[in-house]
Amino acid sequence: MPNTIVVGTQWGDEGKAKVIDYLTRSADVIVRFQGGANAGHTVIAEGKKFVFHLVPSGIINPDKVCLVGNGVVFDAQQFLREVNELRTMDIAVDGRLFVSDLAHLVLPFHRLEDAAAESYRDGQIGTTGRGIGPAYQDKVARTGIRVGDLLDWDLFTAKFNRAFSAKRALITGLYGSPFDSDAAAILDEYRGVRAALLPFIADTAERLSGALRAKKRLLFEGAQGTFLDVDHGTYPYVTSSNTVSGAACTGSGIGPLAIDHVVGIVKAYTTRVGNGPFPTELTDAVGEKLRSVGGEFGATTGRPRRCGWFDSVMVRKAVQLNGLTRFALTKIDVLNDLDTIDICTHYEIDGKKVDQYPSQGSLIERAKPVYETREGWKADLAGCTKYADLPAKAIAYIERLRTLCYDIPLLIVSTGPDRRQTIEVEPL
Ligand code: IMP
Repeated sequence: MPNTIVVGTQWGDEGKAKVIDYLTRSADVIVRFQGGANAGHTVIAEGKKFVFHLVPSGIINPDKVCLVGNGVVFDAQQFLREVNELRTMDIAVDGRLFVSDLAHLVLPFHRLEDAAAESYRDGQIGTTGRGIGPAYQDKVARTGIRVGDLLDWDLFTAKFNRAFSAKRALITGLYGSPFDSDAAAILDEYRGVRAALLPFIADTAERLSGALRAKKRLLFEGAQGTFLDVDHGTYPYVTSSNTVSGAACTGSGIGPLAIDHVVGIVKAYTTRVGNGPFPTELTDAVGEKLRSVGGEFGATTGRPRRCGWFDSVMVRKAVQLNGLTRFALTKIDVLNDLDTIDICTHYEIDGKKVDQYPSQGSLIERAKPVYETREGWKADLAGCTKYADLPAKAIAYIERLRTLCYDIPLLIVSTGPDRRQTIEVEPL
């Protein structure tokens, strides 16, 4: 398999973990490069369900090396919980799972700050509450504490105590929220965290460079989705990292020419969790049906996801922003029962036809989706193992989505959560 980046093309929750699981089988090294434990990647394999927040989901395949890159904000306690869970499932991680010494730590006070900042701001973002924004803020402010700081306990303690006092002042003073936290107790806990984490800490950029020289096959596992990107997404209703494919290079320490393919995960309809504009949102019974049939509840927070029709204006933009070379279409089976299915072909904004996703949030807020309506296929897709086995109306729907989005070739079509419910179309 060529070196490949996988990204979400919508607002996350496109079913990336399943596609990553599919690609992992022909990869050697799997890398997370941005985000943190706000992600929730659910994989169903051999009838067992695995939910990962921080460990690359490729870990369930034995013999693969998994790296958490420098671009990730790293909650060490969450990481160790996932490691323990994997061990109880008899999945060995030692010697094949590593975290960058340059990744910034998400510490308990970041979660308090996340909640306090949310209640302070006008117009809540609806964050996952995992401390992601505050940890990235500290990184950019050059006051963050990194995984590598844990190598020197005295240095870590000094940095922690300084940060702890600053956070108390911020949370109680500016945000007016309680700060029931005990520095000594956290440090005590982190002594244990440090001991458990030490074998996983590495210079992951160096490891990647060695893997490249050895012609290993690399897979970069994006989290969230294109429209949650801090630059290109629906700011301020975004996450705090760059989620587009370019972040795979900065977030892991490799050059762009090492990448051969960029796969965009496209859900057959659209969902969003958290606040912010969503032109094709359905607040009616159809939206409710998509949510219940699609199991659209957050893997990290359990929140119901907002659901709506497929928005080709967004996915066209995602093709451009990520340089996509393949689509992986997911959750097409969720539409099986619908009499009719709408596709948003363009927007109308202030009475004008708009084909290109506007960069200004105020325009997106005013965008009215313009739909074309297609007949549903009203059939179960179980047993379809080849693209041509799909009902003609399902193929017509998929081909229409492709035509609207620069005709990007399909890698796979996913017809259900299980590994076996995967139709290969044009392999890499
Ligand atoms: P944060 O990343 O926790 O700061 O949340 C910022 C926004 O991104 C909120 O709207 C979250 O719901 C959304 N978000 C963060 N991670 C994910 C994800 O993995 N899937 C979908 N939405 C996410």
